[in-house]
Amino acid sequence: MDIIFDELISSFIDHKIGLKDAFFPEKLAKDLTNYLKSLYEENLLRSARIGANHLETLDKTIRKDYIYWLDKGHDNTIEDDFFLLIDEFVQYLNRYCYAGIVDYEFHFAYYEPGSFYKRHVDQFQNNNQRKYTFICYLNENWQKGDGGELNAYLNNETIQIEPQYNRAVFFKSDEIEHEVLVAKKDRLSITGWFKVTNL
Ligand code: OGA
Ligand code: NI
Repeated sequence: MDIIFDELISSFIDHKIGLKDAFFPEKLAKDLTNYLKSLYEENLLRSARIGANHLETLDKTIRKDYIYWLDKGHDNTIEDDFFLLIDEFVQYLNRYCYAGIVDYEFHFAYYEPGSFYKRHVDQFQNNNQRKYTFICYLNENWQKGDGGELNAYLNNETIQIEPQYNRAVFFKSDEIEHEVLVAKKDRLSITGWFKVTNL
């Protein structure tokens, strides 16, 4: 996986927004996609909230997606395979980038048609542990017109990213303002944050 990690991180270093297509091994991407679809069909996703810890609020004018937190304790082989790969990525980040990652958190996200996430940064005001944001899209046949693009706002520039299947995105959580445009079709992704200590 190191070559794939290298490509994502070189792109991040060059452009502040790292992009890498075909990020997960094909089978894992497919397994994650089918797993998310089955969780959705079984009604196991929950409305996403804004804010951290006890200050969470549910405001559907800011974001309107459904999420499912992944957890090693679920004893699910697909989640386990995913976390093995993420652990490799953490080792890579700490070894080659001295990133100091000590923890992470990941969830699936499901945007139904009409859903969006208004412009924001991913770091909470009362907690600066989230250092890097990672997203990978799981939309098998995303076409122009399907909506749900990610807009990332750099100084004078807006970068628009199409949520193409198995495309990974990586950026600094406290630095990059971003927004998910209204999805016209179901929009699937896995999103997470690599964390450093709070000190
Ligand atoms: C988020 C987010 C972007 C995306 O979950 O914080 O901004 O493209 N997601 O899904
Ligand atoms: Ni975000």
